[in-house]
Amino acid sequence: MPSVTRNGSNGASNGQEDHGILTSCPSCPTPLKYSGSLDYLPYFEITPIIGREYPTVKVTDILKAPNAEQQIRDFAIIISERGVVFFRDQYDLNIADQKKFCDLVGTLSGRPEENGLHVHPIYRDPGNLTLPDGTTDENIYVINSEAQKKIYKTMGNRIATEPRDLAREWHSDSTFETVPSDFSFLKMEETPPHGGDTLWCSGYEIYDRISPSFRSYLETLTATCAQPVFKSAAQAGGYEVMSPRGSPLNVGDAFAPHHPVVRTNRVTGWKSIFAGAGLHVTRIDGLYSHEDQMIREYILRQVTRSHDCIARMKWTKNAAAVWNNSCVWHAATPDTHLVEGNRVGVRASSIGEVPYLDPKSTDFNDCKECCDADYTISRSQRGDGATRWLDEPTVHFGNIAPSNQLQISATERNRIQKEHEAICFEMEAAGILQEYPCVVVRGICDYADSHKNKGW
Ligand SMILES: [Fe+2]
Repeated sequence: MPSVTRNGSNGASNGQEDHGILTSCPSCPTPLKYSGSLDYLPYFEITPIIGREYPTVKVTDILKAPNAEQQIRDFAIIISERGVVFFRDQYDLNIADQKKFCDLVGTLSGRPEENGLHVHPIYRDPGNLTLPDGTTDENIYVINSEAQKKIYKTMGNRIATEPRDLAREWHSDSTFETVPSDFSFLKMEETPPHGGDTLWCSGYEIYDRISPSFRSYLETLTATCAQPVFKSAAQAGGYEVMSPRGSPLNVGDAFAPHHPVVRTNRVTGWKSIFAGAGLHVTRIDGLYSHEDQMIREYILRQVTRSHDCIARMKWTKNAAAVWNNSCVWHAATPDTHLVEGNRVGVRASSIGEVPYLDPKSTDFNDCKECCDADYTISRSQRGDGATRWLDEPTVHFGNIAPSNQLQISATERNRIQKEHEAICFEMEAAGILQEYPCVVVRGICDYADSHKNKGW
């Protein structure tokens, strides 16, 4: 059986290894706890699974607040739990403050102190785009759809003969670095009337949708994330790639680190699929090529078949998104060539920690937050040979919340419970209630959280 490749230079700053994968993050050994400092801000969730928008927040106000550090740390936690957070109308946010906020969400959430903002490897390339004011900044990556169109016009072989596979757009930022990005902050300076949306997909939830036995196997794997294009571009342009790039470990021009397929998010302590799919993931280590292809296609298919795990941003001028690359993939929608109007964005990225998988880290189920283990009654405590005949059941009277889908989120369960004073959920009448008004009467025999399973 082929062996899994050792995790290269990643060993420099983390703890022990298991299957060649580091198992801890010394700079943030335990998950962080939200302090409540953002509770005064209105927000709405983009979907039950991923994304949150704070429609009134101005990042500049947060930076100026007397308890700015506490609030930014709480933002780092919310971003890491929800995957991505949207802000609107950041018209007064300049590049310096955007960089400052991006840097602070990293440092205040336990990023190794030697790391900083990412420097794009080919910042020296004369073909690079400038900022809207004509300047450049080594920590800011500029996107510009009009410039992109011109580049494509010079590339005759990009003329499509068949529809493009947009699944190829999914990626996590800077995965080609030994120490990839934790947080990215993209602000859209200019937007076309429509088009150019960005999507984010929850790696936590994709992990949770894989069977426990297959998850266990994936947790033993690493993947090579090779991006040779930077070295060849630098050679062709006659310049050196930038080095270091936001971390003392991000040096040189090899761009072929090995990252774990499943990683722990240092902020939440939850497991997420990481280097299992995406633009920069080029090979699952130690497998035969058809096995490598099969696993990467399988994970990518989980992403493209699970649109309930996806948050979509319809950009407006001066809108911004901040996300945690450890637990989400993102993908741009390349449809701006169909409309008049430019799409100009500026992105900063913080460099996080060397990816690791802590065997003690938990799934993205929220039960640990919402369920009190003190209420657990072990079956064995019912006495030897206990049956339901011998048990003394408790009868509860109250509202039953009929569900039209599996209810596997404890947070969502608690929200509905509060709003409707529901004492339980039931989905036996799913699909019938709308057609045939009826009352569900049934003994409750199941969970309404991520513990739900057939075996029970
Ligand atoms: Fe990206």
